[in-house]
Amino acid sequence: MDYKSFSKPELEALLAEEQKRFKKYVKEGRNVDMTRGRPSKEQLEIAMPMLKDAANYDYSAEAADARNYGALGGTKACKVLFAEIFGVKPEEVFVGDGSSLDLMYTLVHFAKQFGVLGGTPWNSLKKVKFICPAPGYDRHFSICQQFGIEMITVQMKEDGPDMDVVEALVREDDTIKGIWCVPKYSNPTGIVFSDSVVERLATMKTAAADFRIFWDNAYVVHSLYDTDDHLKNIFDVARKAGTINRIYSFASTSKITFAGSGISAIAASEENIKDINAKMFFKCINANKVNQVMHVNFLKNLDNIKKIMAQHAALLRPKFELFDRKFTEAFDGDRFVKWSRPRGGYFISVDVKSCAKRIVELAATAGVKFTAAGATFPYKLDDLNSNIRVAPSVPSLEEMEFAVDVMISAIRQARMEHVLKKVFGEN
Ligand SMILES: Cc1ncc(COP(=O)(O)O)c(C=O)c1O
Repeated sequence: MDYKSFSKPELEALLAEEQKRFKKYVKEGRNVDMTRGRPSKEQLEIAMPMLKDAANYDYSAEAADARNYGALGGTKACKVLFAEIFGVKPEEVFVGDGSSLDLMYTLVHFAKQFGVLGGTPWNSLKKVKFICPAPGYDRHFSICQQFGIEMITVQMKEDGPDMDVVEALVREDDTIKGIWCVPKYSNPTGIVFSDSVVERLATMKTAAADFRIFWDNAYVVHSLYDTDDHLKNIFDVARKAGTINRIYSFASTSKITFAGSGISAIAASEENIKDINAKMFFKCINANKVNQVMHVNFLKNLDNIKKIMAQHAALLRPKFELFDRKFTEAFDGDRFVKWSRPRGGYFISVDVKSCAKRIVELAATAGVKFTAAGATFPYKLDDLNSNIRVAPSVPSLEEMEFAVDVMISAIRQARMEHVLKKVFGEN
């Protein structure tokens, strides 16, 4: 709705009406958390058979007994499983513990401290920059901040980062050492990178020889629908183009089995994996291989993982669809309110120019919590004060109904307040 077409008294009356409705929500004194992409309790139950059967799995099937020290980069069977997920060879896999974010952090740490593949440690350079497509995943940006890496914000479009800008930047500037990408069901916009974007990323000229694409494939098998979305295999393109060392890819079972207590993995060239193993050698003896055996027995292979993910999708899909139905009812055709309709992943991205902070603030007063406005941008700087990330996985459908009503009302109020201020000069 274009509130600018109303007179000031009309708009004030409309706002008062909306505020009255909102007060009822506040009075309910509820608490709905939509801040982070956590699996719901029902989703966590899906992997419980893995724990029940754990005593019966064979932990000594491989030369290195899974219950003992050894096999730094993971069990063979686990590498095979992740190789299938990533679309690479088992020799191109390193298996870690419960968090892929930990692996991303570690690889940035290694690059800073020791350099990659014998290159100059990034710490000894005056400046190191990363390209950060935004809106993006706040934790990627936090890693950059922690290591003093300057972030260059590049617009995230419908099919991936704005590649004209990315190519121009990396061609000229050898202090740009990396880019963060969530190529499938991106956090938070839900988009899937197009073939063209994948090809351009894998083949673009980079001034830095040690440039790395941090290909965070967190949602590689996380489709909400039977027909999975296609993501071109970046390793296939890079292999042909001779740029395979450029890619560090990551995934985990955080949203397949147990969040933070599953297994994670890196896929990279054999040369990179050797380099990573050589550095990890000093950090630990091995990751939790008992958990790896449990996961291999439970997950089995990609086909079976897809069946497990269909159970997750059955729980998640109604929440995404409820959101879309209610937003369509409220804002269809409204050019001031935009929201994503993801086909996978964990997030819905909402854009309401100039109003994000106020919407999040208002919703919180009614007990509905969203990720802080701005968090999806480097340095938390959303210049347009527009983007809000919605994580619908945890609330029940009934809680979702409430939360979405609250959000709709908060959006209406924030927009009316904004117009009253901008057009009619109210404080
Ligand atoms: C894009 C992305 N990468 C990584 C993670 C965290 O993964 P993990 O649990 O494997 O550390 C998340 C969690 O929300 C995510 O959205």
